[in-house]
Amino acid sequence: MRIGIIGAGHIGATLARQFARIGHEVVISNSRGPQTLQALVQNLGGGVRAVTPAEAVAFGEVVVVSVPYGRYRELPAEGFDGKVVIDTCNYYPERDGHDPDLDSGATTSSEKIRDQLGGADVVKAFNAIHWENIRDRGRPKGDPERLAIPISGGDEDAKAVVAGLIRDIGFDPLDAGYLGRGGSKHQPGTRLYGAELNAEEASALLHTHAG
Ligand SMILES: NC(=O)c1ccc[n+]([C@@H]2O[C@H](COP(=O)([O-])OP(=O)(O)OC[C@H]3O[C@@H](n4cnc5c(N)ncnc54)[C@H](OP(=O)(O)O)[C@@H]3O)[C@@H](O)[C@H]2O)c1
Repeated sequence: MRIGIIGAGHIGATLARQFARIGHEVVISNSRGPQTLQALVQNLGGGVRAVTPAEAVAFGEVVVVSVPYGRYRELPAEGFDGKVVIDTCNYYPERDGHDPDLDSGATTSSEKIRDQLGGADVVKAFNAIHWENIRDRGRPKGDPERLAIPISGGDEDAKAVVAGLIRDIGFDPLDAGYLGRGGSKHQPGTRLYGAELNAEEASALLHTHAG
């Protein structure tokens, strides 16, 4: 699969390495330009290439958006229609500045990002797991220490694609529901956020406490 990544920090670079390791074609981008990513892509190996954000969108069958929430309005304005987009972003007002829509609970960060990326099938995923766990804690299916990764989104086909990627890099997807209500169950401040749980434990938490 062709995967375009926007954001080359802890999460973006770690996902690039994992997806390339299992055989996907990966490109990665940041805000400062591909020339600033040459050392990173050499280190990542796996044929990962540095591109611009617009090129990452055009390239990817799946596009990962992994930037600080406060910068989502800088994302490319076009090209997302029909793409599966993985939103890893979290809202931290002290980092991102205050967003009254989120402070009031009127909507969620993922819904605002979806509304910005016209026509994208947005799936919130990899937002609730620390980057070092994505790097280090993949396990084979059935291993009791295999961690769950909550996902949410409105398009079942897109969620299935993302769930497959999660399984293939050694984790279990946990479907939390639609993008808004589902996503609000694994955003910062919830019990699922940052919880290091296997699928059974995470599912119990989702259904008993996080709703
Ligand atoms: N760190 C974690 O463990 C973790 C876990 C789950 C979710 N998250 C969330 O995932 C997102 C990324 O986190 P992170 O820790 O990977 O962040 P990070 O290490 O600070 O990296 C952020 C990346 O985003 C890029 N970026 C910023 N604005 C951009 C733009 N307009 N266009 C393209 N690229 C842009 C930056 O590139 P430049 O340096 O060139 O600006 C940088 O490569 C955040 O929303 C965070 O809250 C983080």
